[in-house]
Amino acid sequence: MGLDRFPDRSNWFVPDASMQGPFAPIHREIEAHDLEVIGELPDDLNGMYVRNGPSPAHGPHGKYHWFDGDGMLHAVHIQGGKASYRNRYVLTEGLRAEREAGRALWPGLKDRMPEGALPDDAMKNVANTDVVFHNGRLYATWYRGGAAYVMDPFTLATLGKLEHDPRLVGLQISAHSRVDEHTGEFLFFAYGNRPPYMHFGVIGADGALKLLQDVPLPGPRLPHDMGMTENHVILHDFPLINNPAALEAGRYSLEFRQDWPTRYAVIPRAGGAPKWFEFEPRYMLHVANAWEEVNARGETEVVMIGTPYAMPRGYDGSLDVRRLLFTIGTQGTDYEMYQWRMNLATGEAREGVVDDILNTEFPMINMGWQGRKNRYTYNVLMGRPRTLEQPHFAGLVKYDLQTGGAVACHPGEGFWFSEAPFAPRDGAVEEDDGYIVGFVWNGLAERSEVWVHDAKDISAGPLARVIVPQRVPHGFHSCWVRQAQLDAAQAA
Ligand SMILES: [Fe+2]
Repeated sequence: MGLDRFPDRSNWFVPDASMQGPFAPIHREIEAHDLEVIGELPDDLNGMYVRNGPSPAHGPHGKYHWFDGDGMLHAVHIQGGKASYRNRYVLTEGLRAEREAGRALWPGLKDRMPEGALPDDAMKNVANTDVVFHNGRLYATWYRGGAAYVMDPFTLATLGKLEHDPRLVGLQISAHSRVDEHTGEFLFFAYGNRPPYMHFGVIGADGALKLLQDVPLPGPRLPHDMGMTENHVILHDFPLINNPAALEAGRYSLEFRQDWPTRYAVIPRAGGAPKWFEFEPRYMLHVANAWEEVNARGETEVVMIGTPYAMPRGYDGSLDVRRLLFTIGTQGTDYEMYQWRMNLATGEAREGVVDDILNTEFPMINMGWQGRKNRYTYNVLMGRPRTLEQPHFAGLVKYDLQTGGAVACHPGEGFWFSEAPFAPRDGAVEEDDGYIVGFVWNGLAERSEVWVHDAKDISAGPLARVIVPQRVPHGFHSCWVRQAQLDAAQAA
């Protein structure tokens, strides 16, 4: 008796919203060339758009959460006016074990953890969150922090974990790291449930681990991204935590400590003691950019811009913590563009809204300007959510941080965008001389497409739409790899 009388549920189709429609997993790994294009791909757009996202290979144990699915890379290579597509699973250790077993082995985010196990040990690293290009390889990373998986950029084959240095073994590397195109360095942080709770590391252009240092925090935190300037990184300590008692009991329960500040650590990229700055309590997933400015008194200020959650307030102006946690916990989309300024000479901390009219997230920039004062960011425009846990990425917005202007592209009902990186035009000089490239689910034609916009005028609509030969499930982060980077990787 007991559970044995129930059949194995692992291959059942569980009718969860995050498993249906354009969210539904795909299992075929295909390669297709000379794809149909509506419009014309520009001759000076050469490189590869890669996006990561969940596509669960097996039915879940119980409830499915969108974030649980096995990572799958989708790559669209554009060269000489032609496009090709390829998709491959990130062959993680967990997926390997589940394929062998023929069913799901790990619990998901909505499941109860095994007795006494801390979640970091109990969940499967699905490497489904971000993808970056470094040292001739793609790295697929996970939002909860775990080993980064190294992938071949040409075949998308999984080559193993980013653990070539013993000091990297066991580190829970964050979803979001920063690759500096000017130095070729991979700047990352790792975090977890055990002291010191955070590490900062640098892998050089040659792949060697140059630096790994502790960043002690008062307790376990849920950071997601980091900022980098030419000389510093900015690491995050937000007052959003897993409730410690719930964690002990094997559950997740987000807690927002509005009596705690937001704290940012500014750390020299060469290593050294963090300089901490305190701000209003907030929570942010994604940084748009950070840079250093010298003010009129000759003092250096570190500036960071990103898209934190808007802070919902009650009638009396006080923070509505329940609503904030509901928004965060259900993939609600309510964001604003915001900036923080940290004076390294005086310790002064200032902050303020950049834009709280448009609701945007997933900020992308010209990576040549990363760490330097930039003018433009390209964000996903959030639509009004129709159901819980199904955010609608309704369009794109180009912000001009110099004028405060913004231009949106929003083709109307039925279209669903994805994070869209900036692809510089061959020989580009100006910051916005290039294209915005990203998947769009065309719900009217029921197919996935790649839309290529002229970054100088996204309001004109796409210059070209590449028809992808299979549906690309909604996913998370992406990058653009220039053809020159691919050529260098091929030659190496
Ligand atoms: Fe993210």
